Amino acid sequence: MYLEKLSLTDFRSYAQVDLNLEPGVTVLIGSNGIGKTNLMEAIGYLATLNSHRVSTDAPLLRFGAERAMIRAKLVRGEQSTVLELEINAARANRGRINRSNPVRARDLLGICQTVIFAPEDLALVKGDPSSRRRFLDELLVSLMPRHAATRSDYDRVLKQRNALLKSARAGKFSTGHEATLDVWDQHMARAGAELLHARLELVDRLQPHLKNAYAQLTDGSKEAAAVYRSTLQDILDDDGATSRPAESRPAGGADSDDAAAATPVLAEDLRLLSVEQLTERYIQAFAAARRKELERGISLVGPHRDELELVLGSAPAKGYASHGETWSMCLSLRLASYYVMLDDARTGGSPPILILDDVFAELDVQRRRKLAAIVSGAEQVLVTAAVEDDIPAELTGRRVKVIPGGIDEQENR
Ligand SMILES: Nc1ncnc2c1ncn2[C@@H]1O[C@H](COP(=O)(O)OP(=O)(O)OP(=O)(O)O)[C@@H](O)[C@H]1O
Ligand SMILES: [Mg+2]
Repeated sequence: MYLEKLSLTDFRSYAQVDLNLEPGVTVLIGSNGIGKTNLMEAIGYLATLNSHRVSTDAPLLRFGAERAMIRAKLVRGEQSTVLELEINAARANRGRINRSNPVRARDLLGICQTVIFAPEDLALVKGDPSSRRRFLDELLVSLMPRHAATRSDYDRVLKQRNALLKSARAGKFSTGHEATLDVWDQHMARAGAELLHARLELVDRLQPHLKNAYAQLTDGSKEAAAVYRSTLQDILDDDGATSRPAESRPAGGADSDDAAAATPVLAEDLRLLSVEQLTERYIQAFAAARRKELERGISLVGPHRDELELVLGSAPAKGYASHGETWSMCLSLRLASYYVMLDDARTGGSPPILILDDVFAELDVQRRRKLAAIVSGAEQVLVTAAVEDDIPAELTGRRVKVIPGGIDEQENR
C-alpha cells in the first residue's frame, strides 16, 4: 500500500500542511526541528492510534488547539481509501472512512499499515519489559485489528481485579470478597489466555525473520532470538507437578516403575495449548498465587507481567549487547515485523508503508548500506534526515525538502 496524500490540521507544529506522496522511496530532508518527525508521527498514528514518541495525545495537538485532524488518501492495489482521524482534547477521538458517518477511532486500525524505525526503538532492547510487550501488541493489532478488543478487555479486567486486591490489602476484604475474586479470576483467565495465545503465535512467526534480518544486517557471527517468558509458566513450574493437570503429567503413577515416572516433569510448552487450556492454567496459577497477591495487593500473574526476552548468541541483549549490536537488534525487530506483514500481504493483504525516521544518522556506514538495500524494494518508503549525506547512495529515489510549514514543491527532485 502507499499514501498518495497526507493533510494535517493543527497537528503538532502544523496549522495546515498538505503533502503529495508517491510509491517508492521518498527522502524528506530538512533542518532539525523543522517538522519531519511530526509528519511521520501523524502517519504512524493513523495506522496504530499510538505515537512512537509520546504515550498521550495532548502533545499531538498544536499548542492551544482543541482538536487535530489527520487526513490521508491510501492506495491498496486498485483501491483507494480516504481516512480521516480527529484527535480531540476533550472527547473521544473519531474517524471517518471514505467520508462515511463518524466511526470509533478504533475502527480505522489495520487499514493503513506501517512499520516505523526510529531512534526511540533503542528502548526495545534497553527499556523495561513494557516496551517489548507494547511492540508485540501493536504488531498484533496491526495484523489482526480484532485484538484491539482483546487488549482493552484484558486491561479493563486487570484494573478491576487490581482494585479488588488493593482493597483486600487495605483490610477491607471479607470472606464474601473471595467469591468476587473468583469471578474476576475467571474473567482475567479468559482474557489473559486470548492475549497470551495471540502473542505466542506472533513470536513464533517473528522468530525466523528476526534471525534472518539480524544475519543480513551484521556479519552473522551471532544469532538473534526472541523468547517469550510467561509469568504463567513460572508459577506453574514453581508449583511443580502437583498443580499440573493429569494430561500433562508423565505417564504412570508415582509408584509405577515406568521409566517416565522417573523423568522430571518438563516445563509445559505453552505454545501447544489452546485458548481454553491456557484459561484453565491461568485459573490454577491464580489459585496458586492468591495468598501472595492478597499480601501484595496486585495481580502478579498474567500477560501484563510477561517478558519478551531478546537474545544475542548465548546472552540476553539487554545489559550485554554493545551499542552497535543493540541497534542491529532493534532494526531486526522492525524488519521482522515488516516481513511478518509481507507474509500476510501474500495471502490477501497489502505490504505496509516503511518509515525510517532519523535512523541513518545513528548507524555506521556498513549498517546504513545494508538497511538501505533491504528496504529500498518496499512499495513505499519514507525516510527523514537532517543531512542528505547521511542517506546512503543505495537509497535512490525522490528527495524533497521540508521547509517551515511543509514541503518545498520547487525543490522536489
Ligand atoms: N504540540 C505542538 N504544538 C506546536 N509545536 C510543536 C508541538 N509539538 C512539537 N512542536 C514543535 O515541532 C518541532 C519538532 O518537530 P519535529 O520533531 O518533527 O522536528 P524534526 O524535523 O524531526 O527535527 P530533527 O531533525 O531534530 O529530528 C519543534 O520545534 C517543536 O517545538
Ligand atoms: Mg526528527
